[in-house]
Amino acid sequence: MLAVAVLAAGRGTRMKSDLPKVLHQLGGRSLVERVLDSLSVVQPSRNLVIVGYRSELVKEALQPWSGIEFVEQVQQLGTGHAVQQLLPYLQDFQGSLLVLNGDVPLLRPQTINLLLKTHEQHGNAVTLLAAHLPNPKGYGRVFCNDDNTLKEIVEDRDCTPAQKQNHRINAGVYCFDWAKLAAILPKLSSNNDQQEYYLTDAVNYLDPVMVVDVEDHEEILGINDRKQLAAAYDILQTRIKDNWMAAGVTLIDPDSITIDDTVELQPDVVIEPQTHLRGKTVIGAGSRIGPGSLIENSQIGEQVTVLYSVVSQSVVQSNSQIGPYTHLRKHAHVGAKCRVGNFVEIKNSTLGDRTNVAHLSYLGDATLGEKVNIGAGTITANYDGYKKYPTQIGDRTKTGANTVLVAPVSVGADVTIGAGSVITKEVPDDCLALARAKQTLFPGWRPGKPHETKES
Ligand code: UD1
Ligand code: CA
Repeated sequence: MLAVAVLAAGRGTRMKSDLPKVLHQLGGRSLVERVLDSLSVVQPSRNLVIVGYRSELVKEALQPWSGIEFVEQVQQLGTGHAVQQLLPYLQDFQGSLLVLNGDVPLLRPQTINLLLKTHEQHGNAVTLLAAHLPNPKGYGRVFCNDDNTLKEIVEDRDCTPAQKQNHRINAGVYCFDWAKLAAILPKLSSNNDQQEYYLTDAVNYLDPVMVVDVEDHEEILGINDRKQLAAAYDILQTRIKDNWMAAGVTLIDPDSITIDDTVELQPDVVIEPQTHLRGKTVIGAGSRIGPGSLIENSQIGEQVTVLYSVVSQSVVQSNSQIGPYTHLRKHAHVGAKCRVGNFVEIKNSTLGDRTNVAHLSYLGDATLGEKVNIGAGTITANYDGYKKYPTQIGDRTKTGANTVLVAPVSVGADVTIGAGSVITKEVPDDCLALARAKQTLFPGWRPGKPHETKES
């Protein structure tokens, strides 16, 4: 039997933030969510998260996760004190307890598997993850015998100068024999530099303790301050980009690009500089995104180009060209082989295949057929200050420059609308619609000289 406990009660003083540390975001997910993600390979019978500082926020953030038991640590008196709170919850539990710090977000699931396997095979009281760090400052140092059994862990601030020379650090990820840990927990003292109850003291009391070294030390980076948060983001980005480049995606100037790990890219996609792909976004094969574009929670088809544009919660079908300077948002759906760009905003609207909206337009709550041509400066006036109203435009219709479509309004198929028209009433199929003041001419007219103008 396996139980998991994630320590997420601390404030994270070094973050200098009101937000609990474990709720800080790393590439679109909070630290604690990432820790829970890394547990995807294990099937624990109990899933406990220890909360304390602003616990209501942490509970709310984890609401979508099922099967979590929250354990309150009202005062945060250290990692050992946090685990002590489990005692009443795991009274009758028998088996192993996997403990993870909530601020170690880059662990690979395979590493957790290795820890659990080693623990089982050797029947240890504790098995823990360690790593050799170039800069071990701030971490507990791990001292071992030749056979990788633990001598002791000493916290950074309790180390002698000689002990500080040891670069082998404690990752904060442990597998305990719960019965043995439970027996020792009440005996912890806070006799140390921080006056805290250390979980590492419990580890020091138990025997035998085995240390598993993690090869890629970047995995066990703990986030204590904003600089480490940025470093973790860098590591995460490198992992994501290496993965996509290996899968056949070209990244031009990768350092200027960011990609969430929820994004999916098909082969021969090219991502140009200064482009950011976020959330549940899919980019189809052969598409070229950027430079200078932001795509979030959107589906882009194959062979699409998106140039200097923002696309969110929208769909673009294959072979369409978006941009430069297009904003597609809130369920814009652009069909195949369309051209949309040059200062165009489209919201909650559908464009049929081969439809063009090529210059200076706003389309909101509109449904357009196929092969429609929207003239420069065409606007749907979809809002009367209280409600939004729909506009329909049929196949092959052309709107002239500066057309205003006052919604709700419906324009048929094969219609031509004259430039500058304000369309307020239904237009049937197959006609020319003109709705503008007639041009008037005054032959020979000159402007009056100033002294000739009479004032009334
Ligand atoms: C801890 C380890 C250290 C290790 C490092 C790895 C101890 C005493 N030290 O140090 O050996 O190298 O992690 O990253 O364990 N928390 C609670 N309740 C508390 C205090 C902390 O839930 O009362 C949670 C925090 O929210 C955090 C985690 O425990 O997620 C670790 O706490 P933190 O204060 O960051 O420990 P470190 O000083 O980094
Ligand atoms: Ca930490």
